[in-house]
Amino acid sequence: MAPPRTPRRPFRGRRVVLGVTGGIAAYKAIAVARELTLAGAAVDVVLTRGALKFVRPLSFEALTGRPVHTSLYPQGDPNLHIRLARDAHAVVVAPATANFLARAAAGMADDLLAAVLLATEAPVVFCPAMNDRMHAHPATQGNLRRLAEIGYRLAGPAVGPLAWGEGEGPGRMIEPDEIVAHAGRTLEGPGPLAGRRVVVTAGGTREPIDPVRYIGNRSSGRMGYEVAAAAWRRGAGVLLVSGPSPLPAPTGVELRRIETAEEMRAVVEAALPGADALVMAAAVADFRPAEPAAQKLKKEAGGVSELRLQATADVLRATRYARRAGSVVVGFALETADAVENGRRKLVAKGLDLLVVNDATEPGAGFEVETNRVVLLSPGAPDEALPLMPKSEVADRILDRVELLLARAAVPE
Ligand SMILES: Cc1cc2nc3c(=O)[nH]c(=O)nc-3n(C[C@H](O)[C@H](O)[C@H](O)COP(=O)(O)O)c2cc1C
Repeated sequence: MAPPRTPRRPFRGRRVVLGVTGGIAAYKAIAVARELTLAGAAVDVVLTRGALKFVRPLSFEALTGRPVHTSLYPQGDPNLHIRLARDAHAVVVAPATANFLARAAAGMADDLLAAVLLATEAPVVFCPAMNDRMHAHPATQGNLRRLAEIGYRLAGPAVGPLAWGEGEGPGRMIEPDEIVAHAGRTLEGPGPLAGRRVVVTAGGTREPIDPVRYIGNRSSGRMGYEVAAAAWRRGAGVLLVSGPSPLPAPTGVELRRIETAEEMRAVVEAALPGADALVMAAAVADFRPAEPAAQKLKKEAGGVSELRLQATADVLRATRYARRAGSVVVGFALETADAVENGRRKLVAKGLDLLVVNDATEPGAGFEVETNRVVLLSPGAPDEALPLMPKSEVADRILDRVELLLARAAVPE
């Protein structure tokens, strides 16, 4: 039986000012307020006069359990703007209208949200949302450049359907879950992996038998996607090399899709010289059909009674030669018997810095589940057996180790 899902509250103890301005996407800010609150943050919502045309304070009050602010001059609380600015650990403006971008770029303080921006030392994320032509206008583009120069973070906009039909260029606000991911990255400050490049592999590979059939495996990619998302939250630039997976691309992560073990090897080898860490969570095929058929194999023609297989290139072995000095390589091993013993052998044979071992036969671990129970193996360190936990937490534990290994590599012996 799957264990009960305990809500993670990664933003507990953190205060976020959520600024909402007068765009049609303001309705999505309600979901953002809810998600931030569920993640544990205390959310202080500030609505502009424009925003009040689209959404009402009551929805935000009910979801955040906190008062919502709309005025620079509230009765009996003249220092509200300074208090909100000082107490915030992050400010998120979503949606950010063209008008508000202009006001912020000019350093105006003509309403509560603009004044909070000037007074705060917390990091600020803008999520622009507007008609694609308003976004493309040189005035808006100039304002966005100015905001980036000031040190504000810009998240989006995306290309996609706008309020009035299809937009041709960027203008659509990024989705609430992406905004929450950006808030998470912002709350972590510059992040322990800032300036680092992390390459993660995920999912299973497919080795063609003929143009429509393949040999695959049951990997969903979830473990690797969680590692990629967590590395990005910690400030890294992340390349995720993924076999076919139903999972959406994690926010902020560069996603390269591949199908075969050979494609995976080529992408990883090319990325290795620039990587500080390589986390190989993919379930790469060990064997592939030696002679894939050019045409679909026909049942009437007798089909195939035998399939000749050959070994695929070992992606991990290739890393031994192409990896950069001081980089960290993490492997995964899925075993069905003697997991730790076999893992120790693999650790040495492949020259890994860390091996994450799981036993596919354990309930709640391995493929197609959201939890995992793993043992972390490192040369010269005792085995660390982690309890059953969500894969997102396993990802954090792995990255804690990666950070330690990177720090150790940076210190001359
Ligand atoms: C129906 C409607 C939808 C609008 N949607 C947007 C929008 O998505 N993005 C934007 O920048 N402005 C939009 N505007 C214009 C803003 O509401 C207007 O510029 C307002 O002054 C913004 O005020 P604020 O930035 O102080 O909230 C819209 C206006 C209307 C009437």
